[in-house]
Amino acid sequence: MRTNEEIGVLVEGVLPEVEAFRRDLHAHPELGFEERRTAARVLAELGKLSAFEVQSEVGGTTGVVATIGKNLPGPCLALRADMDALPLTELGMVPHASKTPGKMHACGHDGHTAILVGVARVLQEIRGELEGPVKVIFQPAEEGGGGGRVLRDAGVLREPIVDAVFGLHNMPVPELPEGTLGFRSGPLMAGTASFYVKLRGRGGHAAAPHQCIDPIVVGSEVVQGLQTIVSRSHDPVKALVISVTRFNSGTAQNIIPEEAELSGTIRALEPSVLDFALKAVDKRVQGIASAHGVEAEVRFVRGYPPLLNNETATGLLHRVAAEIGWTERVREVSPVMGGEDFAYYLEDVPGAFWFLGAHPGGSEPVPFCHNPAFDFNDRILFPGITFHVELARRFARLWPQVAVG
Ligand code: NI
Repeated sequence: MRTNEEIGVLVEGVLPEVEAFRRDLHAHPELGFEERRTAARVLAELGKLSAFEVQSEVGGTTGVVATIGKNLPGPCLALRADMDALPLTELGMVPHASKTPGKMHACGHDGHTAILVGVARVLQEIRGELEGPVKVIFQPAEEGGGGGRVLRDAGVLREPIVDAVFGLHNMPVPELPEGTLGFRSGPLMAGTASFYVKLRGRGGHAAAPHQCIDPIVVGSEVVQGLQTIVSRSHDPVKALVISVTRFNSGTAQNIIPEEAELSGTIRALEPSVLDFALKAVDKRVQGIASAHGVEAEVRFVRGYPPLLNNETATGLLHRVAAEIGWTERVREVSPVMGGEDFAYYLEDVPGAFWFLGAHPGGSEPVPFCHNPAFDFNDRILFPGITFHVELARRFARLWPQVAVG
């Protein structure tokens, strides 16, 4: 087995090309399920690696999956990267800024994809060391499209059967300086749902409110009423967010309108809390509406499920960090209320998602994900590639130990 230093040299060797690859993706962002150029670039890189068996157009999407050591007897590891960009116009402060107005890699998925390409290149070099298969999954449409669900349902966790899956997200916050590793067992990211409320009152002249049923007044009460679900009806130690983000009604200042429409988002770290919130929102809206004689229609669209890190898999991350002398880089992180479709893989197999610290240091904030001035920090390509390579070459040996113990 190679030493950690020898792995470091191999990673250094691929770094210049991986960085150029990352910047090329950044300049050419593509939205969810449209990552055709990105997938072609990934396929071109994987095509140079003879030890990998490559599959494209997975599940009828732009998804790419490649497996090394398919017939090895040890347990199978999967590593996943997301490839999509966001519908946002980049401010254009870097030389490799987006060439497409309205599209931008504002979440660093260009970096995640580049890291996984780097991992594949190093695994090709050390293929003789592997004792079990390693699958690399390049996934489309994380930003709301649910590409993770599509790929999971297309069977990427089978043939060979994946024993554990891991993924990372860059995290440019002062608490996670570049190169630190943010781990957490249990809930890490929120489950999400959207709600859409339509209130049907009776419109008429604004000077004769007694002849009308005003949906704006009732809607205002709904907004207020929804605030007290979290504060008065819910266990305060269990995270829950209910936000009304849209309220539309009316056409003129002298007309009481017929209808009002509200919508918003619900976020929770536990599936049961999300279920509770959906029922509570429906009940609250219906109760307020019926008290005023307004007809209410409440519709929910479920988003991603909560992302629940497996305890054993999280333990494995700590173990790998310890074996390579990176324990001091590890930070225990708090959950965040954003959603992440890596959660779908974790519904089927054990695994863990983790945050790769990306903040350049100091306490000043830097542009966060989804900001038009965001750019992926290329200095974390090295720790990102290194850690997933170290995980991959240890997995077959360590997983049976931790999974049983
Ligand atoms: Ni993201």
